[in-house]
Amino acid sequence: MLPLSAVERTLLVPLMARAWGARWQLVDEPDPCADRVLQRLGCRMPDWPDLVTWSLILWRTAWFRRWAREFFARHPGAQGLNLGAGLSDYFQWLQTSTRHWVDADLQRVMQLREHCLPARRGARGLSMDVCTDEWWGCLRRGRTGAEQPCWIMLEGVLMYWTPGQVADFLHSVGEHVPHGSSVAFDVIPHWMVGHPIRVTHAQGDAARFQWGIRSLDDLAHVHPRLHLDTAVHPPTPWSLTPWRTAGWDPLSPYALVRMTVL
Ligand SMILES: C[S@@+](CC[C@H](N)C(=O)[O-])C[C@H]1O[C@@H](n2cnc3c(N)ncnc32)[C@H](O)[C@@H]1O
Repeated sequence: MLPLSAVERTLLVPLMARAWGARWQLVDEPDPCADRVLQRLGCRMPDWPDLVTWSLILWRTAWFRRWAREFFARHPGAQGLNLGAGLSDYFQWLQTSTRHWVDADLQRVMQLREHCLPARRGARGLSMDVCTDEWWGCLRRGRTGAEQPCWIMLEGVLMYWTPGQVADFLHSVGEHVPHGSSVAFDVIPHWMVGHPIRVTHAQGDAARFQWGIRSLDDLAHVHPRLHLDTAVHPPTPWSLTPWRTAGWDPLSPYALVRMTVL
């Protein structure tokens, strides 16, 4: 139905979760845009919601929003970057009269964004493959002045890249991104690599997870300027068991991490 690749179509999963969260008033801060976007796309919600995945997405959305607000409280004039933004609209929650925000994704997704989402003052869209060496240059093009810290988020994105692509991306963050910036993303454990993601309503191939970690130590040495400052796990029934070790629950399917650029 949508002229998108399998990985691009995964954007429907968080979109449906947020529409469902808003419709059923399951979250403190609903996403009123998500439902409208689904309608514009002509997508129906499935009769049986994927409760586990959708609850995880609502949980992570609340954390990304909370971390972004903490960051902007320290750096009110900073720029926010949502890389692999899909059809999410974080600026509806973070907009101020002076803030600048960029939503970036692959070209066809950005065309859909233009069709489905309202333009917001202070926000712009950018068609960009974040796996290329030029991603940072594309973002900075035309911008002058002192290098301010920025907020960078990649939500539900890195697990679809190869380990080499993730390593290159994190390395380039360490090389280029200004001191004091924050980079937040979600991670899956290595045993989920290869798992197919079939998107409701979509036909064709399934996207597959390609990158996962064995422990948070995998992120400790990605670049000397990148410091892992926080990791959070969703609540699980086994969170209190002895298997849980040093900040990484090997049975948890999921974690969010935040890194600071030194
Ligand atoms: C699971 S969706 C998440 C969308 C959004 N972050 C959200 O949470 O609603 C993954 C998104 O990453 C985008 N993506 C994957 N690889 C990308 C790349 N190399 N450059 C830019 N965007 C990419 C896809 O097009 C898709 O929109």
